[in-house]
Amino acid sequence: MRGPFQPYPVDQVHRLIEPGPTVLITTAGDEWPTVMTNGFNMPVRHDGLLAAVVGPWDASFSALRRTGECVIAIPGADLMETTVGIGNCSSAEVDKWEEFDIGAIPAATVGAPLIGQCQANIECVVEDDSLVDDYALWVLRATATWVRPGADAPEFHHRGNGTFTENGAFHDLRDRMTKWRYLT
Ligand SMILES: Cc1cc2nc3c(=O)[nH]c(=O)nc-3n(C[C@H](O)[C@H](O)[C@H](O)COP(=O)(O)O)c2cc1C
Repeated sequence: MRGPFQPYPVDQVHRLIEPGPTVLITTAGDEWPTVMTNGFNMPVRHDGLLAAVVGPWDASFSALRRTGECVIAIPGADLMETTVGIGNCSSAEVDKWEEFDIGAIPAATVGAPLIGQCQANIECVVEDDSLVDDYALWVLRATATWVRPGADAPEFHHRGNGTFTENGAFHDLRDRMTKWRYLT
């Protein structure tokens, strides 16, 4: 113990700060578009720069390497079970669009498709792959974004072990963002 704290395994720290939301990432595959589940993602800058870990264990990895493009689709909690299912099989073996009954919509700026059932879709191109070999970390630039008007299902976060939390109560503290007024 250290004061009120007990030790926590350092190889589990992502569970304390995993940002989420849990997203789906599509890329233009060979037979069908690949789609994978992704919990390790984050904004990098306020100008549409994002980052996501997509590892070589995913079929999506080689498709992303080859095309340099993807779509980050944000599911609502109504798609939670579908999202877990998509993250537990490979596009190399399964047409996940058929298997999970999700619909592809052509994107405007990239070859990867939007997912029709999601709340929002962010079309991206690879901005920087210099961290991919060491960390599987892709820096992505959003080139177009689509949100579904009226979509109000909560996004959800992966707690790192197959458990999830939904985004909950809404708190409006914009009047306290005095240093960052331009963000509000
Ligand atoms: C909840 C959840 C979160 C995941 N997060 C990631 C992630 O951040 N990065 C990653 O490379 N794989 C992640 N995965 C694993 C991929 O989704 C999984 O390997 C998937 O089968 C890859 O699909 P693909 O082979 O069709 O590309 C996650 C899986 C689940 C279920």
